Amino acid sequence: MKGIILAGGRGSRLFPLTLGVSKQLLPVYDKPMIYYPLSMLMLTGIRDILVISSPEDLPQFKRLLDNGSRWGLSFSYLEQAEPRGLADAFIVGKDFIGREPVSLILGDNIFFGTGLWNHLQDASTLKEGALIFTYPVKFPENYGVVELDEAGQVLSIEEKPDKPRSNLAVPGLYFFDQNVVDYASELQPSPRGELEITDIIQRYLLEGRLRAKQLGRGVAWLDAGTHETLIQAANFVQTVEERQGLMISCPEEIAYRMNFINKEQLESLARQMKSNSYGEYLFHLIGETVQDD
Ligand code: TTP
Repeated sequence: MKGIILAGGRGSRLFPLTLGVSKQLLPVYDKPMIYYPLSMLMLTGIRDILVISSPEDLPQFKRLLDNGSRWGLSFSYLEQAEPRGLADAFIVGKDFIGREPVSLILGDNIFFGTGLWNHLQDASTLKEGALIFTYPVKFPENYGVVELDEAGQVLSIEEKPDKPRSNLAVPGLYFFDQNVVDYASELQPSPRGELEITDIIQRYLLEGRLRAKQLGRGVAWLDAGTHETLIQAANFVQTVEERQGLMISCPEEIAYRMNFINKEQLESLARQMKSNSYGEYLFHLIGETVQDD
């Protein structure tokens, strides 16, 4: 399965923070925002990952992530000239996707909690159709909203409805079969001028090929797109990490645990950051205390 991180957009809700730097490069406590969605793809077992961002911001993502080999991954990069909508990821990424299933995650979406791992393992086996998640939120009108029947089957999906039919939003993590490329190419822009991922999901729904899985109370889904939610996300990560002594969405750790890299490779990554608690954490993972050269 291929993976795409969509990390463009205007980030206008975070102005002036994002006038000079991409939203997805801003810090969320101890790591850049994009590490969080990246970690989700890694936990799904996806190693071939396309990063899409604006022409201005893409060089900084390359600088941060490089070719991915240090984490046992392979990164590709493509520009999205204008923020034409989430579904545009499948038009930009057409050749990258080829004839494989693909997961799309939004660069500002942060997930953490129990049960996620099992959901991701299940998603990684998708060969046919589409899989989305649902998550209860207080203000569903800001999101794609799904209505489920008693058996958990999707009855309807609407983008930012004035009168939501439920409190279940669709988080920015999606799994599609290869048809998504053709479906995206047939889309027309919505009244707000975007190629809507909701329209693609709707098509899978009409074809009877859509599954939705519910993320419950045990999962945190944060979108760090406003000043308030950015600091909330940072506080959340700091609180959990300080209490447990375990990191949330640390790509080095995940690469090691998923066997994408070995102990020697992790040690070399740890050495580069040995002067701070991030490096200490990596040393701790391999059972060593911080070494001085
Ligand atoms: P949004 O939060 O909807 O948009 P934005 O990031 O541009 O922010 P704002 O509303 O403050 O201007 O986008 C969700 C994610 O998808 C975010 O990570 C940016 C990304 N995105 C793209 O990369 N390209 C796009 O065309 C759109 C619409 C979003």
